[in-house]
Amino acid sequence: MTKALEGVRVLDMTHVQSGPTCTQLLAWFGADVIKVERPGVGDITRGQLQDIPGVDSLYFTMLNHNKRSVTLDTKKEAGKKILTRLIEECDVMVENFAPGALDRMGFSWERIQEINPRIIYASVKGFGPGPFEDLKVYENVAQCTGGSASTTGFDDGPPTVTGAQIGDSGTGLHLAFGITTALYHRTVSGKGQRVECAMQDGVLNLCRVKLRDQQRLPHGPLTEYPQYPNTPFGDEVPRAGNASGGGQPGWAVQCKGGGANDYIYVIIQPPGWAPLMRTIGREELIEDPEWATPAKRLPKLDQCFAMIEEWTKTKTKYEVMGILNPLNVPCGPIMSMKELSEEQSLRDTGTIVEVDHPTRGKYLTVGNPVKLSDSPSDVTRSPHLGEHTDEILSQVVGYSAEEIEAAKAEGAV
Ligand SMILES: CC(C)(COP(=O)(O)OP(=O)(O)OC[C@H]1O[C@@H](n2cnc3c(N)ncnc32)[C@H](O)[C@@H]1OP(=O)(O)O)[C@@H](O)C(=O)NCCC(=O)NCCS
Repeated sequence: MTKALEGVRVLDMTHVQSGPTCTQLLAWFGADVIKVERPGVGDITRGQLQDIPGVDSLYFTMLNHNKRSVTLDTKKEAGKKILTRLIEECDVMVENFAPGALDRMGFSWERIQEINPRIIYASVKGFGPGPFEDLKVYENVAQCTGGSASTTGFDDGPPTVTGAQIGDSGTGLHLAFGITTALYHRTVSGKGQRVECAMQDGVLNLCRVKLRDQQRLPHGPLTEYPQYPNTPFGDEVPRAGNASGGGQPGWAVQCKGGGANDYIYVIIQPPGWAPLMRTIGREELIEDPEWATPAKRLPKLDQCFAMIEEWTKTKTKYEVMGILNPLNVPCGPIMSMKELSEEQSLRDTGTIVEVDHPTRGKYLTVGNPVKLSDSPSDVTRSPHLGEHTDEILSQVVGYSAEEIEAAKAEGAV
């Protein structure tokens, strides 16, 4: 079986998280991803959050699997020549430098198109055109400017960022979708095109339901929010704590154990009310007109979940899961990273993978979460800085041994 993107060559000029997430996805699907890194320095994350001195960090290794690394100083003349050759030889070019950095190197979109009209040139920036277009942006800035922070957390607390890297990894994912779409379009048009995704836009896309709620506000209170009916709503979507973002109420309730993650998220679908009440010993509420319908329950969801919690506190989260699942009550234990890393079913599907690295040894990573039935996807270790410089210069750029030596002597690679 061939991999889905076999034969696609990607010039990967990405660093940190957003861009590398995108190119790692392409690499998992079989693209030949050539990561360009500055000689002697490399992607800054190689040395960030290092747990083992002198060894590529997990930050780097977990975002750069299945890639080849070439060192290249794109500000030197010999480096620009090699970069031009790489643009000629690649199908896709991906970058997430600060705004204008690639233009300053002499590689504007116009120039890139001139070099290779079939290339797909994809960029992540913090913002699209507008007042903030020149700004450098990291994950949490995107979460704050894309609507996530203002809508995450509890009503009486500050805006809160989320652990899911929706700004970086989320935008990388959007970009990968744009690239594969453009690759498909190229099979029809014969031409490449520019693909751009701003982190603010990516986060806002993931916060779509909150823009929905913003437009519901003028028509009345948001009845599924925990503020209802006791706290008045202002003119901005408030933070909703653990309330469900959809039409079925939900909340995280505490379980036996008292640990930080001894909680389970329980959703009350209308058909779930009777089995839930029977299970927690409140049969009298099943038919009680004050409780029997979703509309009657909405103003007292806090009481509903308090009753459920009284019961869940007598069981572990997995015991609760074991009882509610057969009753078709949607629920899910709050799983810690420790529990996820030990979960056998995730190992079995290749979503959590153990990788062996020559200087680090064995470590866990998240493998490809997207499974294709006819195209395999494996996870191989991240490259050392410049590990494939010689092979890429000879195989892809077409340099002779003398030309490679000359480039090295100039400090270009
Ligand atoms: C992430 C970010 C804030 C990091 O900023 P930074 O560390 O200052 O890095 P920059 O992108 O500005 O690049 C620094 C310089 O290195 C240069 N450089 C990078 N690779 C190079 C190479 N191989 N050879 C020579 N120079 C290189 C760049 O050209 C730039 O030089 P310039 O400032 O003279 O133009 C910034 O890149 C950014 O805003 N990116 C877009 C949004 C994004 O992806 N953010 C999320 C990151 S997870």
